[in-house]
Formats: sequence, C-alpha cells, structure tokens
Amino acid sequence: MPYKILEGKKGVIFGALDEHSIAWKSAEEISEAGGQFVLTNAPVAFRMGTIEKLGKSTNSLIIPADATSMEDLQNLIDKTLNHFDSKLDFILHSIGMSVNVRKGKEYKNLNYDWMTKGWDISAVSFHKLMQTLYNKNAMNPWSSIIALTYIASQRTFPNYNDMADNKAYLESIARSFGYFFGKEKKVRVNTISQSPTITTAGKGIKGFNGFINYAEKMSPLGNASAEDCAKYIVTMFSDYTKKVTLQNLFHDGGFSNVGVSQDIIDLFDEA
Ligand SMILES: NC(=O)c1ccc[n+]([C@@H]2O[C@H](COP(=O)([O-])OP(=O)(O)OC[C@H]3O[C@@H](n4cnc5c(N)ncnc54)[C@H](O)[C@@H]3O)[C@@H](O)[C@H]2O)c1
Repeated sequence: MPYKILEGKKGVIFGALDEHSIAWKSAEEISEAGGQFVLTNAPVAFRMGTIEKLGKSTNSLIIPADATSMEDLQNLIDKTLNHFDSKLDFILHSIGMSVNVRKGKEYKNLNYDWMTKGWDISAVSFHKLMQTLYNKNAMNPWSSIIALTYIASQRTFPNYNDMADNKAYLESIARSFGYFFGKEKKVRVNTISQSPTITTAGKGIKGFNGFINYAEKMSPLGNASAEDCAKYIVTMFSDYTKKVTLQNLFHDGGFSNVGVSQDIIDLFDEA
C-alpha cells in the first residue's frame, strides 16, 4: 500500500499521451499517493492518444490546452481553480516536441520555422505556463512545479538535435522563474533530468535503441524507467522536499557522473 503523501494536494498534469508517457505513469502514482489533478494535453493529442482512459481510471477532469497558447493556458488554469475551488499544490510539465526531429532534419541543416515551433512547445511553454500561474496567484505556498528534461542540454548527444537547445532553454527558465516564484510566493521550481525512456517522444530520436542500451551500461544503477521517474515526481510534489528549488535533478541511475563504466571498457577490450 503506497504512502498517501499527496493526500489533499491538487494539481495539473501536462503531457499524458498514452500509457508509455512519463506523465501517464506519474498520474497513476500521484493518484495512488492521494493527489488529485486535472489532465491536459494539446487538442491534437486527443486524436492520437488515449487520455480519456486515464481520466476514468484516476477520476480526473480533462481539459485540452495547447501549451503554446496563452488563451488556452488561461482557460485551463481558470477552469482548474474553479473545479477544485482552491489553489494548486503541484504542476507537471511533461511536454516535448521537435518538428526537425520528427521530420528527420539534421542539426546541420535545420528548418528554422520548425526550430521555432519546437522551442515554443518544448521550452517557452514552460514560461507561459508559469507566467499564467504567477499572475493568477494560482499556486499555494510550498507548492511544487516540475518540468522534465534530458542531459543533452548540458553534454553533446549528436542525434538529440535541436531538442538539446530546447532543453537548455527550459532548464534556464526553471531557474530564472523559480527565483521569483520562490522569493515572492514560496513556490519551488525544478527540472528532472531523466534517463532515456521508451515513449513516443523518446522513440523519435534517431538511433534511440543504441542510445538507451549505452546509457544502461554506463549507469551504475541502470536506466531509470518511467515508473521510477513517476515515483521521484511524487516525492518532489510532497512536503518532504520543501526546500529544494532551482535545481536540475538528475534521475538517471548515476549516468551523469560516470566518465566510463567497466561494462563499456569491456566491450572495447573484447573488440
Ligand atoms: N523519453 C525520453 O527518453 C525522455 C528522457 C528525458 C526527458 N524526457 C522528457 O519527458 C517529457 C515527456 O515525454 P515522454 O517521453 O513521456 O513522451 P510523450 O510523447 O509521451 O509525451 C510528450 C507530450 O508532449 C505533448 N505535447 C506536444 N505538443 C504539445 C503542445 N503544443 N501542447 C501541450 N502538449 C504538447 C504530447 O501530446 C505528449 O503528450 C518531455 O519533456 C521529454 O522531452 C523524455
């Protein structure tokens, strides 16, 4: 029986597309821990995904919103505040998309309209969301806002393409907005840098299988799964992490601090 460490807490979860999504697993874990939430995703995702199923199983209201649209975000937050008749305790931004990745454009030959679109969805949407929450005074003191990121923001991974730049921007927004949210409203803002994970967004990266196997062999604890990530998010939304803010938190089985592992050395020795 899981601990009900989110009992009485209310929030919004962005980005549950299907049962592989990190946001989907997070919704299930948050619900198990006693949290209540509104689920949201881009209107187009309702055609591609299965979010209604998750809405039913977690007894959650679903409100479509394109996270790049200020109008949609304002509507979402107004309706959510109304629905709960209270301010919010947690927000999960689990959104990422690169049109260049999706259409197979290499980093050396980017389409800049697509780059701008992907940047807006993957990074600027986090600012738009926080600005909406801030101006509506929607967050309770000691509430927690999390966005998901990947280590390609800080180290080079050739096939991560323009998503690397989007993630660097996203992590910076977390620190910059997190300062004001902390100082003025006692709200914490962090990013979680997750292991490669088999999801719709993850599988879009060229050579993803090689990528994930390499990370598995490099990480002393092995890759963190979507379920592991969901559990970590529960702790970050709980009162046990009240003074953690402005951090990029690596949730990657140790990958980020390993130069080379013995497993990888052995592979080359054998060769
Ligand atoms: N899968 C990985 O390997 C991995 C690793 C580290 C970090 N992440 C990050 O985790 C987050 C969740 O991705 P995932 O792996 O669960 O994949 P996913 O494809 O299941 O989730 C991505 C979500 O973004 C949503 N989205 C796209 N455009 C949107 C828009 N305009 N408005 C609102 N929502 C929009 C999609 O509908 C989808 O639900 C992303 O930020 C991703 O970059 C993923």
